[in-house]
Amino acid sequence: MKLFTAGPVACRPEVLEEMRRQMFSHRSKEYRELHEQTVERLRRFLETRGQVFLFPSSSSGAMEASVRNCVERKMLCCINGNFGKRYAKVGETNGRVVERLEPGLGAPITPESLDEKLSSAPDVEAVTITYNETSVGLMNPLSELAKVVKKHGKLLFVDAVSAMGGVELKVDEWGIDVCFASSQKCFGIPPGLAMVSVSDEALKRSESMENKGWYFDFKLYEKYQREQSSTAMTPVIPQIAALNKELEIIEKEGGKKKRFELYFKRMQRIRKGVESLGLSLFPKAGCESLTIACVNAPKRISGLQVYEQMRERGFELAKGYGELKERTFRIGNMGYIHLEDIDEMLHALGEILK
Ligand SMILES: Cc1ncc(COP(=O)(O)O)c(C=O)c1O
Repeated sequence: MKLFTAGPVACRPEVLEEMRRQMFSHRSKEYRELHEQTVERLRRFLETRGQVFLFPSSSSGAMEASVRNCVERKMLCCINGNFGKRYAKVGETNGRVVERLEPGLGAPITPESLDEKLSSAPDVEAVTITYNETSVGLMNPLSELAKVVKKHGKLLFVDAVSAMGGVELKVDEWGIDVCFASSQKCFGIPPGLAMVSVSDEALKRSESMENKGWYFDFKLYEKYQREQSSTAMTPVIPQIAALNKELEIIEKEGGKKKRFELYFKRMQRIRKGVESLGLSLFPKAGCESLTIACVNAPKRISGLQVYEQMRERGFELAKGYGELKERTFRIGNMGYIHLEDIDEMLHALGEILK
């Protein structure tokens, strides 16, 4: 099966090979070296001098951590789809008051609307933005939105789950306080690990936060990283080794620039192919994602039927999400995908539509 999923995605053979290494203790010299190398590579990749933690959880754990460590009472969630909604739910189920900025489905958050919202809600402590809303295949103009958040002096939390590793992300320059992603998306690593960057300001907030729990306490991660180059709990060593390998390969292949060019090129190929089959993308023009295409299903066949029939031909796409289940299907551009795979997939899609 060739994978064009929303994650978990296909992984490079070298990365999978790395995970077969014999285990070692997370208190050993071997682990310390692996941990330090991975964190340093990630800091370079994310362009941050702040902390980068390795969570033994998926990204939803990092989402919860941002709220529990840094928000006392109130936060603003920018919502373009299901994962923005999840952030709001995480806030509310942790007892925080949640304000919402929610343009219609398929529309991006604009700097103007965010500015207006923040002007009318001065007591908000933090703003959450989903960089790439996987459920509708939409990218928000993060660097522009970040300027507005900083102008209002708020903390900025970025869900970069389906963006980190595939598109540009400048943590310090853009002023992101907490930024996280899961291993099973653009980096193309099996699931189980979240990478979380945390600014000094976010760490300071965590210091005085009450009832933040133990497992996701930023200060605990900082202490163990500083004193032992490890974590307080047992880390997911195979995934960390795999990530370290992937980052090493990215560096050898020409760095981030080359990586982002590859993702761009692959998405151009997908979009061109889809459009030449007479199909259109769901999001408003100009904010289409570079890591996942959300395609409107043609009238005569539902998105679910496209998904099923592509599976029969050996291609696993992603189903439409939530209320778009019937109306759309999605083509993931994450992980280990060759340009020829894209051509084959588009050919099969053309056959189905015929
Ligand atoms: C944008 C976004 N945020 C959050 C999540 C949740 O991530 P996880 O399932 O790794 O916790 C996903 C998963 O697809 C996602 O795409």
